[in-house]
Amino acid sequence: MTSKVAAPYRGPAETIEQSQPNMVSGRTEQSLLFALPKGRLAQDSLSFLAKAGLSIPTDTESRRLILPAADGSTGFVMAKPRDVPTYVEHGAADLGICGLDVVRETDRAVYEPLLLPFGHCRLSVAGPADDAAGPPEKRSGSDDLAVKPVSSSNLPGTPLRYMSQPRIATEYPRLTRQFFADRGVNAEIITLGGSVELGPILGLADLIVDVVQTGTTLRMNGLVEIRTILKSQAVLVVNRASYQLKAAEINRIIERMRLLTT
Ligand code: PRP
Repeated sequence: MTSKVAAPYRGPAETIEQSQPNMVSGRTEQSLLFALPKGRLAQDSLSFLAKAGLSIPTDTESRRLILPAADGSTGFVMAKPRDVPTYVEHGAADLGICGLDVVRETDRAVYEPLLLPFGHCRLSVAGPADDAAGPPEKRSGSDDLAVKPVSSSNLPGTPLRYMSQPRIATEYPRLTRQFFADRGVNAEIITLGGSVELGPILGLADLIVDVVQTGTTLRMNGLVEIRTILKSQAVLVVNRASYQLKAAEINRIIERMRLLTT
């Protein structure tokens, strides 16, 4: 009884609860969680954050799934690139970095306040080099792909399906379906989890839709680019609710990043 009266007011119980650091993550409910992509964008993302003057984790190779920033202000999750918009849409992470290609493919409801100056690549249709009529820029018309993806489709023995229903191997089924549907082509989409260049090599697919950065992977596997579907680069994505509820912290991050993009 006495202690209850004497205790200083510390706000609602919920507030006290939320300010306790989580045992696993070391974070409080108020601190930001940033989802970063593993793989090819990982190092550029970390370097970019550091250059923007933001505190980054010291040990990204750790087996811990949530890594605290060196100054404890922010937690970081190193996620599969494709999961970044999912975490952010659902508010599991407040913000994240991933490729625009992934944001368009996953079609998640996230804010995209800033394109970032790295991770430039393109999502392209590609096919076997010996079938193709030449490099994309030398081919006339932008939509001839709709009917005749490659010149050898004229050859005897080429299945009709090749022309009217090309099989396309890709990690981007949504964007691929949309691209071909927009051109009136009833493409058969074969979704793979990686190494889609194997599709034409193994006879699984006529064409692929995949990310091209340097073009080396295509060249080394006897493929050439036929059309660009989407130009991509890294993008900052933000959870819609966090953008309102944690506006000050998030805007501070965006402004620091923006200084490096102009
Ligand atoms: C991507 C993409 C290509 C390659 C293109 O693969 O799928 O295979 O990079 O890059 P390049 O034009 O510079 O050769 P990634 O290494 O990201 O792995 P993945 O095949 O598992 O997607």
